[in-house]
Amino acid sequence: MDRAIAIQVSHLTKTYDKHTAVSDLSFEVYGGEIFGLLGPNGAGKSTTLRTIITLLTPTSGTVSVLGHDTVREADLVRRLIGYVPQERAIDRFLTGREHLELLGALYHLSKAEAAKRIAELLKLVELEEAADRAAKTYSGGMKRKLDIACGLLPDPKILFLDEPTLGLDVQSRLRIWEYVRMLKARGMTIVMTTNYLDEADQLCDRLAIIDGGKIKTLGSPTELKIGLGGDIVSLTLKDPSKIATLVAALTKQPAMRAVKATQTGLDIRVESPEKALPAILESANRLDCQLEFIEYHRPRLDDVFIAHTGRSIKDDVPMEKEAV
Ligand SMILES: Nc1ncnc2c1ncn2[C@@H]1O[C@H](COP(=O)(O)OP(=O)(O)O)[C@@H](O)[C@H]1O
Ligand SMILES: [Mg+2]
Repeated sequence: MDRAIAIQVSHLTKTYDKHTAVSDLSFEVYGGEIFGLLGPNGAGKSTTLRTIITLLTPTSGTVSVLGHDTVREADLVRRLIGYVPQERAIDRFLTGREHLELLGALYHLSKAEAAKRIAELLKLVELEEAADRAAKTYSGGMKRKLDIACGLLPDPKILFLDEPTLGLDVQSRLRIWEYVRMLKARGMTIVMTTNYLDEADQLCDRLAIIDGGKIKTLGSPTELKIGLGGDIVSLTLKDPSKIATLVAALTKQPAMRAVKATQTGLDIRVESPEKALPAILESANRLDCQLEFIEYHRPRLDDVFIAHTGRSIKDDVPMEKEAV
């Protein structure tokens, strides 16, 4: 991944009437990465996205896309990006192919160029067979694939996806993740929003956790988890009377960040399980502490979310369900 800055957001605030939707956001997106905005409903994800793509004007602060200011050079910015909105923009009576043809005309593509690109995109999102059917006959997943093809038609340098898999079934979600990865492999920069932890975790190279219009933390999923201060190794001992001995032995070792006695054994926070696990086993063995059970728990993104927002993202599952 090249580390050139594709998008620079500086002190962005957006207020609707008197309601501040996002406040003093600063972050950058690197060229070629998949960048995610993760947060619950109402966090300010769509507002941020729509401001970057010039649909909204910042109340204060600035955004630049590939070096161009989104207010002063809005037309230029629009030519560099593609957008897949959160709400579906599909006309039920047109066929999939007709949607793309209409857009091709809006983008002033020649007939021949449009036909070639549309054929490629229909293939990419696996809608070739359904291309000449009215979009109203499509499943939710197929409609979303058509949305993505529409966002890709202008051949953008940066693609913006607002909640690309909201309400879709597992299979459709996995397909869409595949497309996003494929686009990244082709060199495209992707900015997406999501309120799915697994999506942010598995798809995004870096992500910002956003809540109440503010960025709470930012980094790669791995960095964010490591930032919590280590994985957890939980031991259960056959003989609880040995717990104190093992705690004393392990506390002194550099691979252990924190060692805590529990009712039945020990909870050990470790930085690197590769180093810590052999040392733990060696000590237990040497001190004749027989292990009944050993469990290794890597911090998950939900642990990160809770640590930075004080609540679980699952408390805030979106109510909107997709009408298929
Ligand atoms: N057009 C609008 N007018 C007034 N308030 C809005 C408008 N759009 C969004 N908001 C408010 O701004 C906040 C952020 O909304 P939004 O950016 O849509 O969040 P998200 O996409 O994370 O769900 C919410 O409180 C929402 O109600
Ligand atoms: Mg939204």
